[in-house]
Amino acid sequence: MPKINLRGVEKNYGANAANAVADLDLEIGDGEFMCLLGPSGCGKTTTLRMIAGLEHLTAGEIRVGPRVVDSVVEGVFVPPEKREMGLVFQSYALWPHLTIERNTDFGLRLRNMPKAEREQRVDKVMKTLGIEKYRDRYPSQLSGGQQQRVALARMLAVNPEVLLLDEPLSNLDAALRLEMRAELKRLHNEFKTTIVFVTHDQWEAMTLATTIAVMSEGQLQQVGTPNDIYDRPANRFVAQFVGNPPINIVELGNAKSEISARAGAFLGERYAELREAGSIGIRPESIRLASEAAEVPEGAFSGQAEVTGILPTGGSWIIELTRAGEKLFMTTHQSPEIEVGEAVAYWAKPKALHVFDTKGDRLEAADRLLRPGKMH
Ligand SMILES: Nc1ncnc2c1ncn2[C@@H]1O[C@H](COP(=O)(O)OP(=O)(O)O)[C@@H](O)[C@H]1O
Ligand SMILES: [Mg+2]
Repeated sequence: MPKINLRGVEKNYGANAANAVADLDLEIGDGEFMCLLGPSGCGKTTTLRMIAGLEHLTAGEIRVGPRVVDSVVEGVFVPPEKREMGLVFQSYALWPHLTIERNTDFGLRLRNMPKAEREQRVDKVMKTLGIEKYRDRYPSQLSGGQQQRVALARMLAVNPEVLLLDEPLSNLDAALRLEMRAELKRLHNEFKTTIVFVTHDQWEAMTLATTIAVMSEGQLQQVGTPNDIYDRPANRFVAQFVGNPPINIVELGNAKSEISARAGAFLGERYAELREAGSIGIRPESIRLASEAAEVPEGAFSGQAEVTGILPTGGSWIIELTRAGEKLFMTTHQSPEIEVGEAVAYWAKPKALHVFDTKGDRLEAADRLLRPGKMH
């Protein structure tokens, strides 16, 4: 199966518009489950539509395997129906006058597949998606979630080499969404289909993807495994977009902040090289509490703070710490034996600190110093 390769891809919708997608280089490997992740309006749908051939590029080139499917310079454009890709969009359309079975085998009939093979494929995919019991019903007799499954089944039945999915689970309630995520992951393992999946939901991307491409304002921010994205965010945007509750950002050089002063001193004392550091990030689960300063491990980044909030989230807690007007949020899975108003010592291992430069980019020099065992 082919790789999909985007080189210098740009999309501009109109004379006065900013680029919806700019200077995008992205390779989607065979069998990859690639999530395009980013906030609304960052260019995810546009990227997917360009891969599908539903939008022309303004600049750049897309290849599928060795074949150029769109190139501005070469004047090549392969129409969507010749790209052998399956598409499911946020708003999917089933044929209202056809039964669920006929909707599911629609693509196979279009391809004039022999009846026996067609029936076999449709049976299999309907079973996999748990819709065989609705085969004689019409779409109007199904819930939104069931309809979304039929749309997926219709597409999987033709066994496309590449599946393009634009927020396909957005209409489902939470329980069904979770079930469908598990289903999609199973399908991906079983069929090894290359999947490009658009979502604004970082949690969805983390749970599904083999590779995540994070976008912001038309620009690619980082490409990596879910662990890469979470553990080594390339910049502050990625760090803050992924993770819930969000990562704590401490601005260095903030004279009014005790936490900032401590962080600056912690880095500065050890590593004079880190003078260009602009901020640090600490994930809430990396912060620990000690009832007294003596319990803080040697070499840890630490300080004193007041507990100003305890928020139970069901099985875990978010704790708000405040010092000199600045807040840190931490999470814990153990029932916190503290009360609001109590003074505590907080600490984090040095390798839990993400250091960003003044532009917000990850300071690689800091990783070499703080996380020597974690380099790639
Ligand atoms: N058909 C269109 N015409 C003009 N502008 C568009 C069109 N489609 C999208 N845009 C603009 O392009 C940008 C990216 O949109 P989109 O790709 O839909 O983002 P996302 O899917 O990440 O929410 C947005 O600023 C959006 O308003
Ligand atoms: Mg979109």
